[in-house]
Amino acid sequence: MKVGILTGGGDCPGLNAVIRAATRKMISEYNYEVHGIRDGWRGLVDNETFPLSIAEVEGILKQGGTMLNTSRTNPFKDESQLKSTLETIKANSFDAIVAIGGDDTLGAATRLYEEHNVPTVGVPKTIDNDLNGTDYTFGFDTAVSIATDAIDRCRTTAASHHRTLVVEVMGRHAGWIALHSGIASGADIILLPEFPFSMKDVNERLRKSTDAGQKNHIVVVAEGATMEDRDDFITKDESVDEFGHVKLGGIADILADQIEKSVGLETRSVILGHIQRGGTPTARDRVLSTRFGLKAADMVANKNFGQMAALRGDNIVNVPLAEATGELKVVTEALYELTKYLTV
Ligand code: F6P
Repeated sequence: MKVGILTGGGDCPGLNAVIRAATRKMISEYNYEVHGIRDGWRGLVDNETFPLSIAEVEGILKQGGTMLNTSRTNPFKDESQLKSTLETIKANSFDAIVAIGGDDTLGAATRLYEEHNVPTVGVPKTIDNDLNGTDYTFGFDTAVSIATDAIDRCRTTAASHHRTLVVEVMGRHAGWIALHSGIASGADIILLPEFPFSMKDVNERLRKSTDAGQKNHIVVVAEGATMEDRDDFITKDESVDEFGHVKLGGIADILADQIEKSVGLETRSVILGHIQRGGTPTARDRVLSTRFGLKAADMVANKNFGQMAALRGDNIVNVPLAEATGELKVVTEALYELTKYLTV
């Protein structure tokens, strides 16, 4: 068998660990020929692939980013991109494509399988943890650890200066990073995309807490959080990628400005941005990525195409890609309710 492997969408700690584990097992256990596909789906559109050996994936386990590089190329963007993608798969005689990615990358893998019979196997990647079908995606634990550490650091400055600090974390439609890092760092207010907030309510909570004697506050906000009265994203500019996504960022600045003006608290904003996606994965993410990679190799061998490796409890199983990509996994009201007892 000849297997192509690609990483698509935003990079994420643990991608290299998946590539390493899948390559090792596909070669040593199954004797497959493994080929790296450059820059996600772009490598199939432009026919850029290269052979991978066990030696080539040596030492990458703990490296951040992806040795295959990535892009937000969408093979379904237009007819010609789709045609080239299918031609490359045929020209290289790939018997399977292992796609490591989030909702967009795996959405394309689902359609390639369902509409064009391409034998795809998915591995769930995203720091946002918003893929259905799996309890956790790899990369999430690292992002939460980085964000928690950063918020802890912001707290010391907030405390020294009697300030309010608004910290913006990633999370487009799902607030998993904000929820977990907010709880882990003892944030005073946590705002998620799933539950539009009112500025009046945020201000009132801070005012009340200040009146009760609290001198510094931390507000954690997901980049995709929206205000009740202006139900739209705060974006950096008007551009969209090939999957139609805008570039989010800046809600922390707006919040900080309004808090300072309305409540009179000295307030600063911090946008963590790509720091959350960079660098070495946590030990937990290294193990999860490795288990996903090994499972992907078995799934190719067992011809579990149109399926995705998934974590269920402590087991790695395979689930239909369509189940994972149909709808995003968002924070439930019951989980968000927990923060009521932990915040101001
Ligand atoms: O990978 C998902 C994500 O981290 C989102 O939370 C964020 O909005 C987006 O990536 C940013 O992507 P880019 O690196 O393309 O700006």
